Amino acid sequence: MQDYHEFLDEILIEADTLQKRIAELGAEISRDYAGGDIHLICILRGGVLFLADLMRCITVPLTVDFMAVSSYGAGARQTTGQVRITLDLQSGITGRDVLLVEDIVDSGYTIASVLKMLETRHPKSLRVCTLLDKYERREVDVPIHYCGFRIPNKFVFGYGLDLDEYYRNLPFIGTVNATLYRPLQ
Ligand code: IMP
Ligand code: MG
Repeated sequence: MQDYHEFLDEILIEADTLQKRIAELGAEISRDYAGGDIHLICILRGGVLFLADLMRCITVPLTVDFMAVSSYGAGARQTTGQVRITLDLQSGITGRDVLLVEDIVDSGYTIASVLKMLETRHPKSLRVCTLLDKYERREVDVPIHYCGFRIPNKFVFGYGLDLDEYYRNLPFIGTVNATLYRPLQ
């Protein structure tokens, strides 16, 4: 594997900046859901680091579940509109206050499809919390209730987000210099 230093354009969000903002989000979510329970749904795999840090900053009782989706016939870096569930939730969400935890909203198709699928199961409430919002790329309107950072239209990696499945473990968000990155194969 290529060392990320070889293609890192810049560190867009430092590790401590991420953690500070996540603590703020956790506090805001805790205020909004005070007196109730939250059912967090993490979309695998990009959202796991964010989920793990965010849930430690939430003070109301919570439960966690996971789902995975994939786009129909799309390359790794784009979505075509339709997504299908590749790993479904373990437990039902009917009547629960559900908060979706995502790494990034790009075109918006993933979250829009997931919201549509989850609505059919009649949660009591359904909100979206995303770490990153690449708002300039939006093709479909999606409600985002909690957002960590609005970022420019650049491909990013680290802190859960991958480049060909690698680099998710890095504690910061970096941008890729596409001419220096050598994709696998
Ligand atoms: P959307 O359906 O276009 O909103 O795409 C969302 C998904 O695309 C995210 O959950 C990520 O998996 C992936 N994605 C979009 N932009 C990036 C990026 O800059 N780095 C890594 N993954 C990305
Ligand atoms: Mg993702």
